[in-house]
Amino acid sequence: MTQLSPSVLTSDFLTLGDALRKMEDAGVDMVHLDVMDGIFVPNISFGVPVIRSIRAHTRLPLDVHLMIDRPHRYLRDFAAVSDWLGFHYEAGSPVRETLREIRALGCRACLTIKPATDPEVVLPYLEDCDMVLVMSVEPGFGGQKFLPSALGKLSFLRDAVAARGLNVALEVDGGINEETAPQAVAAGATVLVAGSYLFSAPDLAARAREIRAL
Ligand code: DX5
Ligand code: ZN
Repeated sequence: MTQLSPSVLTSDFLTLGDALRKMEDAGVDMVHLDVMDGIFVPNISFGVPVIRSIRAHTRLPLDVHLMIDRPHRYLRDFAAVSDWLGFHYEAGSPVRETLREIRALGCRACLTIKPATDPEVVLPYLEDCDMVLVMSVEPGFGGQKFLPSALGKLSFLRDAVAARGLNVALEVDGGINEETAPQAVAAGATVLVAGSYLFSAPDLAARAREIRAL
């Protein structure tokens, strides 16, 4: 069963409580939170205090996507407010140590790759991952167009996970809509992140149900 993890990046933060309730009613599986530091990506979003507030207002698991430079420096802070905690392969942290520390801190560990990164780089670390996130846009902004090159990477990773008999979720993030969601799932995605497509809808819950139905 494919899971849905809405990204709140393009939502109205002052009414986030309402959006969280609608997402819960729509039966989404987790909430995707995009943390940006203005260094690893050319945009700044929010950090631990905002996530802590979100956590206090929902029972949905929090799927935190760190787009920050050398994330290992902040693992303890983010692990305290996350359920799934992911960081970028390209962000300058020791990959295996960081994945293992995330697990040791009680979170599920997610390794994320940018569109230009070869999925083969993930293979040495698959056993240390609970999830791999394949970016289908350049990280930094919501509302971009899906890059079809993500599809081949998802299939490659799906086959690698199956060949090793592992239980690793495959998440895809960026440009997911009614057209790209079925493509991503067919290619092997098990978790769909969707931001602007959900939050631009007149009825968020209805659109979340539509994506799930696809
Ligand atoms: C981009 C973020 C995404 C983004 C998704 O850096 O990682 O999670 O918010 O937004 P959409 O669905 O609009 O592409
Ligand atoms: Zn994201």
